[in-house]
Amino acid sequence: MSRLLRIKPMSLLSMEAGEQGEHTLRRSLGALNLITLGIGAIIGAGIFVLTGQAAALHAGPAVALSFVMAGIVCAFAGLCYAEFASIIPIAGSAYTYGYATLGEFVAWIIGWDLGLEYGFGAATVASGWSGYFNSLLQQLHIYLPPRLTATPGTVLVFFHERWLPLTSLPPGTSAAGLPHVTALFNLVAILAILVITTVLVIGIKESANLNTAIVFIKLSVVGIFIVLGAYFLLHHPALAWANWHPFIPPSDGHGNFGLKGIATGAASIFFAYIGFDAVSTAAQEAKNPQKDMPLGILGSLVICTILYIVVSTILTGLVNYHSLNVADPVALGIDATGVSWGSLLVKIGAVFGLGTVMLVMLLGQSRVFFSMSRDGLLPGWAAKIHPRFRTPWISTIVVGVIVAILPAFLPVDRLAQLVNIGTLLAFTIVCAGVWILRVRHPDLHRPFKTPFVPLVPILGIVTAVYLMTNLPLITWAVMIGWMLVGLVIYFGYSIRHSKVQKLPLDANGH
Ligand code: ALA
Repeated sequence: MSRLLRIKPMSLLSMEAGEQGEHTLRRSLGALNLITLGIGAIIGAGIFVLTGQAAALHAGPAVALSFVMAGIVCAFAGLCYAEFASIIPIAGSAYTYGYATLGEFVAWIIGWDLGLEYGFGAATVASGWSGYFNSLLQQLHIYLPPRLTATPGTVLVFFHERWLPLTSLPPGTSAAGLPHVTALFNLVAILAILVITTVLVIGIKESANLNTAIVFIKLSVVGIFIVLGAYFLLHHPALAWANWHPFIPPSDGHGNFGLKGIATGAASIFFAYIGFDAVSTAAQEAKNPQKDMPLGILGSLVICTILYIVVSTILTGLVNYHSLNVADPVALGIDATGVSWGSLLVKIGAVFGLGTVMLVMLLGQSRVFFSMSRDGLLPGWAAKIHPRFRTPWISTIVVGVIVAILPAFLPVDRLAQLVNIGTLLAFTIVCAGVWILRVRHPDLHRPFKTPFVPLVPILGIVTAVYLMTNLPLITWAVMIGWMLVGLVIYFGYSIRHSKVQKLPLDANGH
C-alpha cells in the first residue's frame, strides 16, 4: 500500500524544472499573457460546433443555461486547480500535482485519465475543424470527395451547392431527389492531426506572439458575431421572440429538453470549457507564478463563460434551435443576419482558432506521456528526444497516429462525451486532492487558497459527478474500460519501473 502512496519529492521536481528551463524558458509572462493563453486553449470546437447540437438535440434556447451550469462546475474545479498551481508553480499538469502530493497511484490515474482529455480532445477538435474546413472550401466552390469528409455511414446530400449530412437539412426539407452519398471515413480530420503532429515533431517555437495573434483573431470573430447578431436581433425583435419561445422547450421524455435537458446539454457542452488547466503548463515562464497562475486560470474561465452565454443566447435568437444541428452553427447564425462576408469570416476564424486548440492538446498529451516515461511509469522510448529537433518525437508520433484514427470513425458528439467524462473525473480527483492535502499537510505554504474548504471541493466533486451521470452509459463503459487498461499497465509495468519507488524513503516514510 505504501508503494502506491509514494510521492515525488519537491526537490526532484524543482531540479527537473530547472533542467528543462535553463536554456529556453524565460520568465516573461504576466497575468494578462496567461489569461490570453487560457482563452487560446479554451475557445474551440465547444462553442463553434457543439453549441448547435446541444441546442438542437438537448436544451433548445436554454443551452445558455447549460453554459451557466457547466461554467459553475468549472469554477469550483478552477479554484482547486489554482491552489495546486500555486503550491507547485512549475510546468506540469494535474499529473505532476498528483505525484507531488497524493502519491504515485493517484498520479498514474490522473495521467492516464488525461489521455482521455487531451488525446480524445484533440480528436474531437479535429472532427469539428474538418466540418468548418470543408464548409469553407465549399463556400469557395472547392469540393473534396464527399465520401472522405464524414464518419462511416453518414448520409450526405447535395443541397444548395453544398454536401451536408442528411440530419442537418433544415426541418421540413425533403431530401427526395437530392444527390446523396454514404461517407466512408473522415480523411480531412486524419490529415489535420497528422499535419499538426508533424509540426510538433519538427518543433514549434512556442511563440507567445503567434498565440496572441490567433487568440486575437478568435476573439474578434466571436466579438463580431456578438455585435452583428445583437444588432440584427434588436431590429428584428419578433424573430428573436419567436425563436426564444419557449425558452425551455417541454421535455421529450428521454432526458432531452425541459429541466433535465439543460443538464444533458451542460454535460455535452462542458467540452467548451476544457483547456483552462493549460495555463498551468506555462508556470515556468510566468513572472510571478504564485499570484498570476490563479489569475490566469480563473480570469480565462470567467471571460469564456460570459462569452459563451452571450454567443449561445444570440445564436438561438438568430436561428431556430431545430435547425442548429449542423457542422458550422456559428457560421449559420451569422448568415441569418444577412451580412454576406460574415460566414466566410467565421469559418476562417474557426479554421485557425481550432487549429491552435488541437496543437495545445496534442502538445499536452505528448508532454504528459513524456513526464510519465521520465518517471519510469511508461517505457523509455516515450521520453526519447530527437537529436536534431529536440522534441519528444516518438511519443508525439505515437500519440498523433492513434489520435488521427479516432475522428476518422467516431462522430464529434461521441468523442466530446468521452473527453467530458475523462475531464470530469480529473476535476473530481483534483478537488478531492485539495481537500485531502489540507487535512494531511495543513501547514504547507499556499500562496493561493481555495476559499471555503471543504465546501468548494465538495461542491466541485458533487457537481462534476452530477454532470457525469448525465452522460450516456456507453461513455461510462468506454471510460471504465480505458481506466482498467491503465490499471493493468500500472500493476504490470509501471510500479516495477518507477524511479520514485527506487528513491530512499524520507523521514515520514514517503
Ligand atoms: N475547450 C476546447 C474546445 O472547445 C477544448 O475546443
